[in-house]
Amino acid sequence: MRQYRRIDSFVMNDFVIHSMENSVTELLTELTIAEKVSLTHGSVDPDGRSTGYVRGVERLDVPALRMVDGPLGVRIPGESSTAFPAPLALAATFDDALAVEFGEALGRETRGKDQDVLLAPGVNLIRTPRNGRNFEYFSEDPVHAGAFAAAVVEGIQTMDVIATPKHYVANNQETDRASIDVQVGERALRELYLPAFEAAVDAGAGSVMTAYNTVNGTRMSDHDRLVNQVLKGEFDFDGYTVSDWFGTESATGAANGGLDVEMPGVPMAEMVAPEENTAETAAEGSDVPDAGPNEGLDDAEIPEVVGDGMPDPSTCERFAETLANAVRSGEVPESRLDDMAGRVLGQMDRIGLLDDGDRVEGAIDTPGHRDLAERVAARGTVLLENDGVLPLSDDTDVAVIGPNVDEAILGGGGSSETSPIVETSPTDGITARADGAVTVRRGLPRVEGVSLLDLFAGGPDESEPDGAVEIEAAADAAAAADVALVFARDVATEALDRESLSLPDRQDELIEAVADANDRTVVVLNTSGPVETPWRENVAAVVENWYPGQAHGDAIAAVLYGDRDPAGRLPVTFAPAGTYPTADERRFPGVDGTVHYDEGIFVGYRHFDRAATEPTYPFGHGRSYADFEYVEASVDVATATVTVENVTDRDGHEVLQVYVRPPAIDGVERPERALAGFAAREIPAGERVTVDIDLDERAFARYDETDGWTVDPGEYVVEIGRSARDISLERSLER
Ligand code: GLC
Repeated sequence: MRQYRRIDSFVMNDFVIHSMENSVTELLTELTIAEKVSLTHGSVDPDGRSTGYVRGVERLDVPALRMVDGPLGVRIPGESSTAFPAPLALAATFDDALAVEFGEALGRETRGKDQDVLLAPGVNLIRTPRNGRNFEYFSEDPVHAGAFAAAVVEGIQTMDVIATPKHYVANNQETDRASIDVQVGERALRELYLPAFEAAVDAGAGSVMTAYNTVNGTRMSDHDRLVNQVLKGEFDFDGYTVSDWFGTESATGAANGGLDVEMPGVPMAEMVAPEENTAETAAEGSDVPDAGPNEGLDDAEIPEVVGDGMPDPSTCERFAETLANAVRSGEVPESRLDDMAGRVLGQMDRIGLLDDGDRVEGAIDTPGHRDLAERVAARGTVLLENDGVLPLSDDTDVAVIGPNVDEAILGGGGSSETSPIVETSPTDGITARADGAVTVRRGLPRVEGVSLLDLFAGGPDESEPDGAVEIEAAADAAAAADVALVFARDVATEALDRESLSLPDRQDELIEAVADANDRTVVVLNTSGPVETPWRENVAAVVENWYPGQAHGDAIAAVLYGDRDPAGRLPVTFAPAGTYPTADERRFPGVDGTVHYDEGIFVGYRHFDRAATEPTYPFGHGRSYADFEYVEASVDVATATVTVENVTDRDGHEVLQVYVRPPAIDGVERPERALAGFAAREIPAGERVTVDIDLDERAFARYDETDGWTVDPGEYVVEIGRSARDISLERSLER
């Protein structure tokens, strides 16, 4: 397996031209301006499979560079591959070693589909609980998000695939994402929104995707300060930046602002169109689809889709048409074009594309990938409440209730959609696992997701409901069973934010009716993030199972029957919608085209701590079927050493969490506590483990707009526990 090394960089002619392998340096001297330009934008993939396609330079044996989505698995219209759980479920495991494995599998499947670049992971911070793409991201906390961003990038890159952390930066909502101006302070950028990208770059990401939005008035594809000076300068990023699709305006502005590759580089009508992800097309394997709904439309005709959640292709000045002249006229220095093409060639060289070297073999839908999909879905499952009804005994008679219990909830809508080769629904999984009777009642019409195809067609599909309202029949089935299992889902998609945190349609009503009929009711949530749970006092257990992917049924059955311990912990705070810091319209979704990050650094648990508001379920919360005692801890500036004991007779998983409480400093606002590190460990019944958790300097620092990262002198309290609101041990440190 190719060993990755950072190639040194030095500054020349105001642009960073990296010291490249000879093959790249030589190529640059031989390439014409037109050929260099062809390496800086998308073209039409003659095979009709790649979402992004940079054609090669045949004259000099430079092959094409092929890019595909996405964070939950490889998406090629009309084809299938492993549908992994949503990244939010992965992050809920708090196990970044598992995230490396996840990245490796994504990379292996990318190679298995003969592609070179994966447009993943999505690493934007979860700032508002209603963001339509929260399921694609990791956390409300920057340390947690950064750890998972780095781990997934590392995994992808070791497979000779270029990872593309996205969307740089402050793309934290879908409403008006293609036009919104994000007004955000430098400290919040540095402490919250940039760290996951910095971690991804440090882990070796070969590409970074710029966001659609503008930040403090400048479009991210043109953002000289955040792209050239911060990402490529301070963070020493030596790969190429790629725009989001139709996410640019002026070619010169983008090229000089630090954008290296403009995508898709062709009119919308020539793009590889989305394909109806149906079982039929999935079964057809790799049949290349005909052009989709965009066929024959030019940019101006593309239907106005879902508000401003989709970009307007007609505003993009394509590199293919204007960059060469901009270079010849001197508007864009030729050294900058060399840097752009050189960065692309440098990454192609790094993954073995230029030397016909021994690239890692790919594979899709392997037994290992199927097992990983199930393990992550189970490990990411969060047991929010349990009065003892779980785990179920094998002979329990169960009623499986819910409008979507006959389908696996693969993910949300948009470019991250997946199309699995195999999948199990909750009904499949529980029927296969249970020894007792299993009665199935949907109780409501199916809650339909929103697909990428819907987005291109102008919005969610309003066709006839699939199924009937049969709440009473569901309640009767619940009454006749030992335990009622109610499955409920939300709907989330790219290009649209959720309208509320309530479960859609009449699911709350269904849950209440079932809970009235049986006091041993378990609610399983398949959601994209926080939801309101008005019925939680009336049920015996609540389980958050996120978007679990193809292994939905097998994974949730393994957890409900105790074959696997619910090892997940919340990567996002659950609370009533009106209590979040973004509840105010000015802060989300913004007014008059501008969204104001007035909450500054107080996002997620940082906000709830400062507001002294008790959340419904705090960041880091989650129960195990076992129970743990925090026995001992010692800390120094670099490490917290913690001993935890499993005080029950069943094996369990614990996520040890370390927070730092800084000293109060006059005139300086700081969060009451901030996550400094964490470790997920399986702890056998009755045993103890001692874990070292690294604390880096940033754990004690704040970003000062004048002095940069600053560690104030004083006493720091290191808190150790199992959530932001459940601290077991405290130790002090003088800095
Ligand atoms: C979309 C998404 C981005 C995706 C790209 C290609 O607009 O924002 O995440 O990778 O286009 O599909």
